[in-house]
Amino acid sequence: MGSAVEREKKAAAEAAVLMVKDGMTVGLGTGTTVAYLLPALARRELSIRCVATSPRTEAAADALGIRVEPFDTIDRLDLAIDGADQVSPDGWLVKGGGAALTREKLVAVTADRFIIIADSTKQVDALHSPIPLELLEFGLASTLRRLPSVAVRRVPKSPDGGVIADFEGDLGDPTLLAAFFGATPGVVEHGLFPPDLVGTVLIAHGAEVDVIAVSDPAP
Ligand code: 5RP
Repeated sequence: MGSAVEREKKAAAEAAVLMVKDGMTVGLGTGTTVAYLLPALARRELSIRCVATSPRTEAAADALGIRVEPFDTIDRLDLAIDGADQVSPDGWLVKGGGAALTREKLVAVTADRFIIIADSTKQVDALHSPIPLELLEFGLASTLRRLPSVAVRRVPKSPDGGVIADFEGDLGDPTLLAAFFGATPGVVEHGLFPPDLVGTVLIAHGAEVDVIAVSDPAP
């Protein structure tokens, strides 16, 4: 039957599936929580158009009969649903534990509503390191010299050829750190997702799923 955390992931994912309606365009996130979303979505047999944030998700969706389209001509999505590594009380997220942060952020900003699905272990009092980064391989040594406390992660490159790394230092104010990463040449993307990007967080505690409206109207 799986661990309590796995049951929470499944509960949050199944709650999110109810937000998907016929005719929607939907962004599919990446990770073990999203892995519970896909079969639940397939079971609903909706007529929807989907894009995926990783080849892993695309393959899993495809195997379940969910057709995934390339994300090159779709400029708007109704919903994107994804997991998170950390969710702070004010709605900041850390994402990218599964190295898909760049595609995940691009899909999230394209969606009218970005829904986060998470088990209770993801709720934190304050964000902390590691903060995932994707770096351009070109000039990597230069970029690393200008980024304090960043280590390259021993994982394959992203599907876009980026080098995955993690900031391991003190976080301080996430707004300032996000601005620093955003202004550093060679940083393709960082895993800090601000509250204005986050619509609703569905976070499971046991069998209960709490609905936290971050920038969406309160339920
Ligand atoms: C992948 C991500 C994931 O959404 C995040 O790591 C959460 O993963 P999981 O659902 O497996 O705990 O950001 O890049």
